[in-house]
Amino acid sequence: MWHGRFTEAPADLVLQYGESVSYDWKLYRHDIAGSIAHARAQREAGLLTPEEFSAIERGLKEILEDIEAGKFQWDTKLEDVHMNIEAELTRRIGAPGAKLHTARSRNDQVATDTRLYCRAQVDATLPLVHALQLALVDKAEEYAEVRLPGFTHLQHAQPVTVGHHLLAYVEMLARDAQRLTQCRERLNVCPLGSGAIAGSTINLNRQAIAEELAFDAVTENSMDAIADRDYIMDCLYCLAVIGTHLSRLSEDLVLWSSAEFGFCTLSDAHTTGSSLMPQKKNPDVCELTRGKCGRLYGNLVSVMVAVKGLPLTYNRDLQEDKEPLFDSFETVSLALRVNAEMIAAMRINAERCAAAVADPLLLATDLADYLVRRGVPFRQAHELVGKAVALSVQTGTPLDKLTTEQYRKISPEFGEDAAQVFSLDRAFALRTNPGAPNPANTARRIQFWRQILSQP
Ligand code: ARG
Repeated sequence: MWHGRFTEAPADLVLQYGESVSYDWKLYRHDIAGSIAHARAQREAGLLTPEEFSAIERGLKEILEDIEAGKFQWDTKLEDVHMNIEAELTRRIGAPGAKLHTARSRNDQVATDTRLYCRAQVDATLPLVHALQLALVDKAEEYAEVRLPGFTHLQHAQPVTVGHHLLAYVEMLARDAQRLTQCRERLNVCPLGSGAIAGSTINLNRQAIAEELAFDAVTENSMDAIADRDYIMDCLYCLAVIGTHLSRLSEDLVLWSSAEFGFCTLSDAHTTGSSLMPQKKNPDVCELTRGKCGRLYGNLVSVMVAVKGLPLTYNRDLQEDKEPLFDSFETVSLALRVNAEMIAAMRINAERCAAAVADPLLLATDLADYLVRRGVPFRQAHELVGKAVALSVQTGTPLDKLTTEQYRKISPEFGEDAAQVFSLDRAFALRTNPGAPNPANTARRIQFWRQILSQP
């Protein structure tokens, strides 16, 4: 846009460099809602006649319909979504359109639009998080008691169940949802009325505008309201953490679906073949989710870097906030949807899990606990079981097949009943504390999540 003080139009390359409408058109719904609220406040302040207000409102609603019908012509020469809509309004209704920008700047307008966008996107993302949680809860219930090795350092650690393993992700996603909800509370504050930097000499009722737009409050410092983009960083951080959780789930499933593990089978619909190797069935959805995490982190970092060196208040650098913001919400929403589908269609291979969890070394800690129960201090018990493990490795005898004599030679504290330790039933039955993979705990937690997730 060029204005009264210019004698030359902007160079074509400058227009190309600076236009944002090719992506910020996505704010149209919020821009129009903000403009209608602003116009209503202008009417209340006597700046518009009721007829002028009606013309503006009707004009904006018609523009909204045209945009949604795909009939609106966006013009990059008009730079951004705000100028496009305002110019079209004035073209359609004439003089009243030119009054709309009274007591407003694109600076408070864009801050308002992006807050409304973030709020709407958070509201759209939360049900998707819940749907993935529900898919995980369903799968956890279906295979609640299928036992498999739990890993630390990707080495056999202790036995867990598929139910317990999948519910771990349900917990993570619950915190993700909570984070988004808290982020929404913080961002739901109306900047409109902050003007370009220092409010306006024409005072509109900010409270009424905020209420119409369902904001909880108005911003209390015009410079802060124009300059900061922390609410965008908040959203991008929340989305990056969701990405991290989905990436770890993906990595688990890449391993589980490999020939070496064979713990699960992903459906044909959620895997792809190879153009060369006829036998291949690749976990591309998992790999893409893992890979897309990179851009989620990148989006967060690029907005933080864009903002960090800016003097107060608005600088055009801030226009660079939108593509990362849109990309992260769009990426995460698709990731949540495809992952929910993939989890629902996944099968667990109980025999492969059973074969892997039969490794008696998974119960070495339980054997140390056995000695502790007989009065041996844990550090000593750890040492003694370590010796038994070494003997098992040296002699090629599984830990549960060493004889009582062999155990007794290591320590007389090993009794006849030490062999009982190598029962998985016992191992799970003893782990009764909250948070442990006891079947009753898992069942309780499944019920808990079902109840939580069934609430609207
Ligand atoms: N398209 C601009 C942005 O996204 C809108 C605000 C423009 N304000 C300005 N003073 N040039 O940041």
